[in-house]
Amino acid sequence: MALSKINPTETQAWHLLKEHYDQIKDKHLRQWFNEDPQRFEKFSIQFNDLLFDYSKNRIDEKALKLLIQLAEETHVKEAIEKQFSGDKINETENRAVLHTALRNRKNTPVLINGEDVMPKVNRVLSQMQKFSESVISGEWKGYTGKAITDVVNIGIGGSDLGPLMVVEGLKYYKTRLNLHFVSNIDGTHIVETLKPLNPETTMFIVASKTFTTQETMTNAQTAKDWFLKSAKLESEVAKHFVALSTNQEAVTQFGINKDNMFEFWDWVGGRYSIWSAIGLSICLAVGYDNFTELLEGGNEVDLHFRNTKFDQNIPVILALLGIWYNNFFGAEDVALLPYEQYLHRFAAYFQQGDMESNGKYIDRNGDKIDYQTGPIIFGEPGTNGQHAFYQLIHQGTKLIPCDFFAGARTLNQVSDHHEKLISNFFAQTEALAFGKTEDTVIKELKEQGKSDEEINKLKPYKIFEGNRPTNSFLYKILTPKLLGKLIAIYEQKIFVQGVIWNIFSFDQWGVELGKQLANKVLPELSGDQKITTHDSSTNGLINAYKKMR
Ligand code: F6P
Repeated sequence: MALSKINPTETQAWHLLKEHYDQIKDKHLRQWFNEDPQRFEKFSIQFNDLLFDYSKNRIDEKALKLLIQLAEETHVKEAIEKQFSGDKINETENRAVLHTALRNRKNTPVLINGEDVMPKVNRVLSQMQKFSESVISGEWKGYTGKAITDVVNIGIGGSDLGPLMVVEGLKYYKTRLNLHFVSNIDGTHIVETLKPLNPETTMFIVASKTFTTQETMTNAQTAKDWFLKSAKLESEVAKHFVALSTNQEAVTQFGINKDNMFEFWDWVGGRYSIWSAIGLSICLAVGYDNFTELLEGGNEVDLHFRNTKFDQNIPVILALLGIWYNNFFGAEDVALLPYEQYLHRFAAYFQQGDMESNGKYIDRNGDKIDYQTGPIIFGEPGTNGQHAFYQLIHQGTKLIPCDFFAGARTLNQVSDHHEKLISNFFAQTEALAFGKTEDTVIKELKEQGKSDEEINKLKPYKIFEGNRPTNSFLYKILTPKLLGKLIAIYEQKIFVQGVIWNIFSFDQWGVELGKQLANKVLPELSGDQKITTHDSSTNGLINAYKKMR
């Protein structure tokens, strides 16, 4: 059954939230915390080894209650059930959305059109296990009989960002294999990646759900040419190329044996495919057991998400807070700020996850929306970001809600690095919430021996308004399971927001036009003929390019 098609702005909750927003919009977090010493206890959730503190948000119990009412009025509970039961909620592509089946570690039946998908999920998982173990152990040999040392994942978007983020995220758990990722159509990417590699010991994973993506197919062909320059025989390709795809025909056409293909299915969206065969590079990088731990973490969140009431449900609360700022406070962005160097691609990964899912202006009725949908996602690891863009978050004119992440323990204890890192995390959320008052600024400047005139001049620049909202995720230590949890929390947050905004989160028609036009431009680039088929700017650029090249 399809998702409901309710305009959220026409719900009773929306009107009540608007009213409540008008009443509390200027209230400061300082005041919220002064009034309620129990605020942290009230607005935080402990989920096994993960603490989610959302008390530094501009909410009170009433706001939370109304946000939950919004989720109820927009049928989020029903939508969650539809997602897990394999309903075709990706309506514009007529597909179910079942990446959760890939991490369904309890193996409970998951039906699509009456067929349980778990046997095929498990078949591919054991294929991944067998293959990754034989490559890691060195049993799998390249065309000259040497063990594989380097693996290059060729893919883009969901077939690159997720595996890359996790391989980086779990580097501590690395096997002996060196993983590389090539995504960009810019030849520089593959040329620079291949430079230090030896074709005798290099394995290529061609990762593409459709196996038609221009970037991936072009890079895969270049990799094959590079390999065959040394190996000479097409028959050796089988020892060095594997494919991850839903499209067996295109894989065989490319020259990859179907035995070297790891299948997944149309009910796995590209940006949610990390849990599928697309995770093969993760298995090679950190071992199959660690990959299954990642799946376990994702599965734990799914069970929590499906079975926990909304006021204790982490993905639901995270989603509702996002809507509160996006639709009532007019915030446009969300910053993801891991104080964990291993997670340095986390924000980049969820840039696609969130923005490709919820960057939509047509609702589920096919009508243009007159309210805000998906936010702009950005972020960098702390403390690097502090020395780059935090200035704007602290004193800029925009409200940017931030999500902070850190481990209580580090995987690399070196002197007092970790304590310094963590103190910055806590200090930033404190500074963002409470700021620095005029009185404190004056006192500090006086202590520095400044004159009244100097104090008056400097004062406005030194005041921090504060009242900048943050969420904090504090976990025990970065493990594959923990990372699986974090990923699934954000995936399900995106889902809840899409349901409430009445949009389709699992298609991505917005990336098509650019692809179509590039295909039109490409043949026009050959020859010297003057191009006149576009607008004057595009014609001008193409013709200038032809002269300059
Ligand atoms: O262009 C967008 C997109 O379709 C993404 O949604 C997807 O993750 C990416 O391209 C790669 O697609 P594929 O895995 O089919 O090569």
